[in-house]
Amino acid sequence: FSLKKHNTFGIDAKAKQFIAIHTKEELATLLQNEKDIFILGGGSNMLLTKDIDKLVVHIDLKGIEVTQSDEDYVLIKANAGENWHEFVMHCIENNYGGIENLSLIPGNVGTTPIQNIGAYGVEIKDTFFSCEAMEIETQEVKTFYKTDCLFGYRESVFKNELRNKYIITAVTFKLSKRNHVLNTSYGAIETELNLQNITQPTLRDVSNAVIAIRKSKLPDPKELGNSGSFFKNPIIKKSDYEKIVQSHPEMPHYIVSENTVKVPAGWLIEQAGFKGKRFNDAGIHKNQALVLVNYGNATGSEILSVSKDIQTTILEKFGIQIEAEVNII
Ligand code: EPU
Repeated sequence: FSLKKHNTFGIDAKAKQFIAIHTKEELATLLQNEKDIFILGGGSNMLLTKDIDKLVVHIDLKGIEVTQSDEDYVLIKANAGENWHEFVMHCIENNYGGIENLSLIPGNVGTTPIQNIGAYGVEIKDTFFSCEAMEIETQEVKTFYKTDCLFGYRESVFKNELRNKYIITAVTFKLSKRNHVLNTSYGAIETELNLQNITQPTLRDVSNAVIAIRKSKLPDPKELGNSGSFFKNPIIKKSDYEKIVQSHPEMPHYIVSENTVKVPAGWLIEQAGFKGKRFNDAGIHKNQALVLVNYGNATGSEILSVSKDIQTTILEKFGIQIEAEVNII
């Protein structure tokens, strides 16, 4: 069974067997008999470098419901297999605020907490209320609240201690119904709103601005295989930053804490000369160096090898170790 259509990189890896799961009951029954499985959500954050010699379980649980509501807030629960962007659009149509900056991110709702997806000044943890997950071993369904999830920059408990132990089946968000707190501080959003003379933006305006920015920089996986940012932005010691900045005074950076600084990996990759380069069908996107792309028939190993060249060059040039954000399988 080819997984090409089930991963946004468009890698033609094969699965031994493939099954789509539509209800929690189906999932529980399956897990009673089969534990050596590979879980697949939207396939938007992984690089398949080999065939999967296991049963691939595609989580396709659908449904969105409001579970609680008052004048100010709504708790809205989406099952794991709902498409993330469609869910964001559904919330905007209902005037529920808080995730508009996360418009157009590929993937499904169920995978968003795993790496605490984020963009344009907002992360999923800001509106995350809880998620429901089934333990693979026991098929028990447990609720995880925000503090249980140990969210960090592109991190959560599901990527660490609980890796491969639970399957997220639904996520609940707490969204505003009025007095929305819009986050338009990200430079490009401001520019986009100014261009359109919007002074009192609505949820929809912010979403449209984000969509315009993403479309100008990030390739559409339907047209060009990719997994968004391939690397995380490295967080380095302030003392190291001060050394590097002597030879690169223009290096962009964000203060993370008193002693640490985050540096955009896209800038490092561009400086290292990789932006827009192509090696057979594997390449580095011309508008955003943090995104590796598949021009058609690249294998996962080819993309991985390009990513390793990038890592080595950046380590040599800047002394900074950059780490993959996508899951390398
Ligand atoms: N930059 C370059 N060259 C490039 C790309 C970026 O010099 O080719 C510089 C830019 O000039 C800017 C800085 O790097 O000064 C930051 O660039 P950008 O605002 O495009 O964001 P990013 O840090 O590259 C992160 C997220 C994105 C998210 C954007 C916007 C990570 C790993 N990536 O990228 O998330 O959309 O910020 O908030 O944190 C994703 O995770 O898949 C993703 C796309």
